[in-house]
Amino acid sequence: MNYQFAGDFWWGSATSAPQSEGAAARDGKSRNIFDYWYEIAPERFHNRVGPAEASTFYDRFGDDIRLLKTLGHNSFRTSISWSRLIPDGDGEVNPQAVAFYNQLIDGLLAEGIIPFINLYHFDMPLCMQQRGGWESREVVAAYGRYAKTCFSLFGDRVQHWFTFNEPIVPVEAGYLNDLHYPCVVDFRRAVTVAYHSVLAHATAVGHYRALGQTGTIGIILNLSPTYPRSGSEEDLLAAHHADLLLNKSFLDPVTKGRYPAALLALLERHGLLPHCEPQDAQLIAAGTVDLLGVNYYQPRRVMAKEGYRPGEAIALPEDLFSYYAMPGRKINPHRGWEIYEQGLYDILMDLKENYGNLPCYISENGMGVEGEEAFIGADGRVEDDYRIDFIREHLQWLHRALEEGSNCKGYHLWTFIDCWSWLNAYKNRYGLVRLELASQRRTIKKSGYWFAETARKNGFD
Ligand code: GAL
Repeated sequence: MNYQFAGDFWWGSATSAPQSEGAAARDGKSRNIFDYWYEIAPERFHNRVGPAEASTFYDRFGDDIRLLKTLGHNSFRTSISWSRLIPDGDGEVNPQAVAFYNQLIDGLLAEGIIPFINLYHFDMPLCMQQRGGWESREVVAAYGRYAKTCFSLFGDRVQHWFTFNEPIVPVEAGYLNDLHYPCVVDFRRAVTVAYHSVLAHATAVGHYRALGQTGTIGIILNLSPTYPRSGSEEDLLAAHHADLLLNKSFLDPVTKGRYPAALLALLERHGLLPHCEPQDAQLIAAGTVDLLGVNYYQPRRVMAKEGYRPGEAIALPEDLFSYYAMPGRKINPHRGWEIYEQGLYDILMDLKENYGNLPCYISENGMGVEGEEAFIGADGRVEDDYRIDFIREHLQWLHRALEEGSNCKGYHLWTFIDCWSWLNAYKNRYGLVRLELASQRRTIKKSGYWFAETARKNGFD
């Protein structure tokens, strides 16, 4: 069968400022929470590799843009670093950062690559965290001003903006699971962080529309489809709770302009509703997106929590459901994550049927591999047939969704070059291009050639 995609389908990949730029302490940039956390707790990072130099995109973006061209990209996402653009979080703009992002955007456009620009990828400026981070409405307002500054500086050329990447991750990792700074474990504070992130998103959308710019503004969400272990009432309820807390808590406000009543009832029942101001509802209602980015890696399988009794006090979301390892599931043995290609189709069908088939695209999908040097062939190239299979099989399901009317406009892989990935640093490699850390040498993997050809032909057999 021939899998052909529309002529204007977006083929590309995604990265982020903190994971690719490096130059973390140069040219006026202040520290973000990861720079700081690495200073005080380097042992939390795999092999003690921190964000300081990342994959040196700040210095090599010219060469990397040429590489993106070789990889067949017609579009590419990265983010602006708030702590680089506005080092004190809410004041003067750093001219060196403006020069860098101007050159980057112009360089992409010169190669015919559409820049997709995200404003926040887990990287709170430290000074803003010290003022309360997302727990503070002052920080929400400062983020709004930062967003407006970005639109004013670059919006004449950038037509695709995103307010956040995976805003649930700072909530889960930073305020529930002790996986990201500030390493808080507190459900109530986590709810406030999530709520304020939605307010920040809507504030940025408001600024964008008030400026009258002609592009689109959206958000990028990691929408893991939630599957119950069985059709039993208890398993269904567990899946419903997980879906409300971990998917719909962002998906509904940013697409429908309001929270699901069932989520509000659940939070209220447990005394977890955040503080709301009278004007919030209107702000959220006006903050719906033009374009939704969907990150998909693996499904979320859940089952009833043993001993759970409805109405009982809870300390964490996982008091409402348990994760479930489905027997016989397909696993990426190099990462330990389930591979379930149909999940992509299920998300797109859900968006079609329950979210007005709003314009969307796959903003991240990809396969992390630990110890990938084992697959380097005689000529020095990574022979990553597993990654080609992974991408192809996901694209097949995407294609089927398109045939059934999905409004999905593109596919971006995570990521174009092996990059620094938070606590895991360089443990799991995701790139179409291999990065040698010491020399910073870049070598296209077999999947890179396959991806380039697929993009050029707009499909594959
Ligand atoms: C995503 C995240 C990326 C990258 C990727 C692979 O959740 O948006 O920043 O880390 O996972 O680890």
